[in-house]
Amino acid sequence: MNGLFITFEGPDGSGKTTQIQQLANSLIKLGYDVITTREPGGTRISDLLRNILLSTEYQEMKDQTEVLLYAASRAQHVHEIIIPALEQNKIVLCDRYIDASMAYQSVGLGIDQKTIKGINHFASSGLQPIRTYMMDVSVNESKNRLSKRTNKKGEIILDRIEQKAHDYHKKVREGFLQIANKNPDRVHLVNANQAIDVISEEILKDMTKILENRYV
Ligand code: TMP
Repeated sequence: MNGLFITFEGPDGSGKTTQIQQLANSLIKLGYDVITTREPGGTRISDLLRNILLSTEYQEMKDQTEVLLYAASRAQHVHEIIIPALEQNKIVLCDRYIDASMAYQSVGLGIDQKTIKGINHFASSGLQPIRTYMMDVSVNESKNRLSKRTNKKGEIILDRIEQKAHDYHKKVREGFLQIANKNPDRVHLVNANQAIDVISEEILKDMTKILENRYV
């Protein structure tokens, strides 16, 4: 596989989605073949699983179920979309991947790392990104950004995970920071409090270095 697999991670409201779009636009302008995708989701089956995972309807969901549904969504996505795209030499920009399960389900829910790693190794056939942009933002800032997402009636729209308590989200952020510390060669930690264009420039500069070292 000669493509490049790049992931974006970080707490809810950290600006990942905007940055993926900016990076995709810049790389396409430079002539690269790029696809953007996201987890949970990215395929018909994974999108159905996303609806179950994030709907506020299913508050009874058990931790074990949550872990397995994220992994099931990932298994379908990796094998149906990501691996075929990498085999066609594309750059795959993916909004969230296994680090999210390590931060949200392992650190956040308190499920041991070995279990989450094992399940996800099976689901992904061991596929790892070459670079991860980890957008870091405080829990208060994240909440502040999410509170601006309102419906026509002015009500704040939060999914089942976003609705969880402040302490849970604090653990998730710490989980992401631990991952960044443990994997300095793969993870590029980004201060997500900066202006959008400053962040995009930092990411593009780093990606340019990766591309210079590798023909895609
Ligand atoms: P999104 O809002 O970035 O699209 O992600 C959906 C939510 O799912 C977000 O709150 C993070 C959560 N999530 C997990 O808890 N575990 C995972 O493995 C993934 C991919 C996402």
